[in-house]
Amino acid sequence: MSAPLVSWNAMPGSALRGTLEIPGDKSVSHRAIMLASLADGVSRIDGFLEGEDARATESIFRRLGVRIDTPQAGSRIVHGVGIDGLRAPSTPLDCGNAGTAMRLLAGLLAGQPFDSVLVGDASLSKRPMHRVTVPLARMGARIDTADGGLPPLQVHGATRLQGIEFIADVASAQVKSAVLLAGLFTEGSTTVIEPQPTRDYTERMLAAFGWPLTFSPGRAIVPGGHRLRATDVHIPADFSSAAFFIVAATLVPGSGLRLRRVGMNPRRIGLLHVLRLMGADITVETADEQGGEPVADLVVRHAPLHGIEVPVEHVADMIDEFPALFVAAACAQGVTTVRGAAELRVKESDRIATVAAGLRTLGIGVDESPDGARIHGGELRGGRVDSHGDHRVAMAFAVAAQCARDAVIIEDVANVATSFPGFVELGQAAGFGLAREGGLPAALAVDRTS
Ligand code: S3P
Repeated sequence: MSAPLVSWNAMPGSALRGTLEIPGDKSVSHRAIMLASLADGVSRIDGFLEGEDARATESIFRRLGVRIDTPQAGSRIVHGVGIDGLRAPSTPLDCGNAGTAMRLLAGLLAGQPFDSVLVGDASLSKRPMHRVTVPLARMGARIDTADGGLPPLQVHGATRLQGIEFIADVASAQVKSAVLLAGLFTEGSTTVIEPQPTRDYTERMLAAFGWPLTFSPGRAIVPGGHRLRATDVHIPADFSSAAFFIVAATLVPGSGLRLRRVGMNPRRIGLLHVLRLMGADITVETADEQGGEPVADLVVRHAPLHGIEVPVEHVADMIDEFPALFVAAACAQGVTTVRGAAELRVKESDRIATVAAGLRTLGIGVDESPDGARIHGGELRGGRVDSHGDHRVAMAFAVAAQCARDAVIIEDVANVATSFPGFVELGQAAGFGLAREGGLPAALAVDRTS
């Protein structure tokens, strides 16, 4: 399922103003479908992300025999089949571009009595799966990969898995979650210990669905052999999608944006801390709780940024935000240094290489290292950049274009629909100069020097 090549034409628009509703959280949307499907009873989900990744997970659970109704966009009613109620699929299950779907499902399906096959698109088919298949094999799972530990995954039905203690060597919520979800189907308990704490949505949501686990930052213990109780899930706006507007409003003079009810899970907001260290003006207002997750309005005003050494302790908490951060660094005064972020090399693209290449095209000096980069802040010029089919790289360059001297053509952007449907329209409404190929009226370009 390779996306057709689509490009954007982006250039400075106007100051970013207004109040924006950002789409629902992708990580939470995947997990809500998975746990509601395995629960006893009917769960209602609202704030569901109508993006291709979350919908891939939804389609897979339909194929596994779960009835899921859509009363309206952003809402789902999931008729759970119970922990032992999934049905064998007759053909391969397509995860599309979604690494979260493939890795979490590897764990969940390893505990089923039937065989299944997980496939993905061209980008997902290049992403490493040994990180989940190796610990799952220790639990008794039988999963075959293609050469080099790549998809597709052939998951062989297991009678019963064994609980393990797994000390992860990579800080990855997907790996942790794959093992914990397999742990639902084990004899005994499964413990995961992380090198650094990562997002804990699987743990929080298992608890909300009544599974008796224990967890604290960096550690979770799941006993096997219980049942999940249906519950309603209210999904907050995705901080990772909000990040593009946070950076854009910071960079564009005269901006003042309010982003409504954004998910503020402490394991997701590393970018907020790092941008503030660089001089950003971001206020957290009306902090609240929604379905067990902290949410808040974020008010962002333009502020000049300066380069910093990004503290390594924030890296895991902003792992999806580096494309946006690299753009902020490109527009900051001085040098920004990122270390300890080698995971960026195995995301939807090699995000160090793809963002560095695009920024160089736009006139910015970037020195790459295996686990990060040094970005020399400067003046951005226009040019043609390639997002390599990576949704977050495409959106980051749309932000960069708001500060560039000339138009930026951003190629291969169709995958933005995986995480942020409506990005172009929301960006335009906020003041971005941004249009699909060939569609940017010259009048949208505003000369900020006058
Ligand atoms: C995710 C975990 C992160 C993140 C991804 C979503 C999740 O991946 O990059 O976008 O929902 O668990 P890793 O586990 O590979 O760090």
